[in-house]
Amino acid sequence: MLKLENFDAETFLRDYWQKKPLFIRNPWNEWHNPLEPDELAGLACEDDIESRLVIQADDDWKVEHGPLAESRFSDLGNRHWTLLVQAVDHYVSQVAALIQPFRFIPDWRIDDVMVSYAAEDGGVGPHFDQYDVFLIQGLGKRRWQVGAVCDENSKLISNDQLKLLAEFEALDEWVCEPGDILYIPPGLSHNGVALGQDCMTYSIGFRAPSKTDLLSHWVDEKPADIEDDRYSDPDLEMQENPGEILPKAIDRLHNMVTANLADRDDFAEWFGRYNSAVKYPEVDWAPENPMSTEKLLSEIRAGQALKKNPASRYSFIRHRSNALVLFVDGEMFECAKDVVKLAETICALDEIDDPMNYAKSSNAIALLNLLYNQGSLYLDKK
Ligand code: SIN
Ligand code: CO
Repeated sequence: MLKLENFDAETFLRDYWQKKPLFIRNPWNEWHNPLEPDELAGLACEDDIESRLVIQADDDWKVEHGPLAESRFSDLGNRHWTLLVQAVDHYVSQVAALIQPFRFIPDWRIDDVMVSYAAEDGGVGPHFDQYDVFLIQGLGKRRWQVGAVCDENSKLISNDQLKLLAEFEALDEWVCEPGDILYIPPGLSHNGVALGQDCMTYSIGFRAPSKTDLLSHWVDEKPADIEDDRYSDPDLEMQENPGEILPKAIDRLHNMVTANLADRDDFAEWFGRYNSAVKYPEVDWAPENPMSTEKLLSEIRAGQALKKNPASRYSFIRHRSNALVLFVDGEMFECAKDVVKLAETICALDEIDDPMNYAKSSNAIALLNLLYNQGSLYLDKK
């Protein structure tokens, strides 16, 4: 398993996380670039995979969205362009393995691993992101500069596709070599430029829901489960000015809107499902033929391991006595008794080496079966 040597996660969380950038000189025991440039180019040609090509020409930035034609790479030249591919961790297990050392940050905050390949001087220009990111240099060299903290009022250059800062002054800089890591907190402006050819960077990206995201998604999804009710005022009394909406009416109306939102347990269940929804719902990972519980049992009895689909999102909450609610890819599973241990294990590990140890009750087997049939688990050799 990949590990960061001489890196103290507690100190990092206390002093740097969401506060200031940190450059970490190659903390890996031995660094191997987990993906070849031509494999990345291959992914950018796939229909279901989100990719972008950013080309800089005479101070103008152009973006082309994937899927790209294979022939596109031959006429790009050898300077001033970069290819960016999202969620490579969903497709390449060695790239998914890069997330492991950063799991001192909870899984529900993780977004994906974006991989970039840049020709000499290539980059996406000075910008800031809404989210925390660990930028791991995979291959070649990149000069990273960081500047001021920005927000929605920061001036941008006019470009339809890229949000590039009109003003960027470097306050610090590092040259990242293979294995080096740069942590950048949300809002901090940064600019990475490839020094030489074959520069590959792996961005472990995080996510944090915004207040408007939470509210608008809640309002979109929840009312369907809520029993509808209409304002009523059987106690209506005469009022002095018919134009006034009396405080008592406002209280009732406000309560109609907030009562459901104020139910913390209900909110927790909704949030778990919402947050665990897959990043790319158009990609169907479910097996072509659903498997019966008997067949699944015989497969795991025969020694197969169950592995988590790297594109799947797993999390859980503990609530309502000693039960646990598991969320996987937008679905919710109430777990009790032995299934609690199973759910905790699935969430903590990438694979269940010996599923027979957990598949002891019919409820546990049923859960594994559901997860298998929705494409969140798959069978593989140990
Ligand atoms: C890159 O890998 O070139 C861009 C990553 C970033 O700046 O967020
Ligand atoms: Co960035």
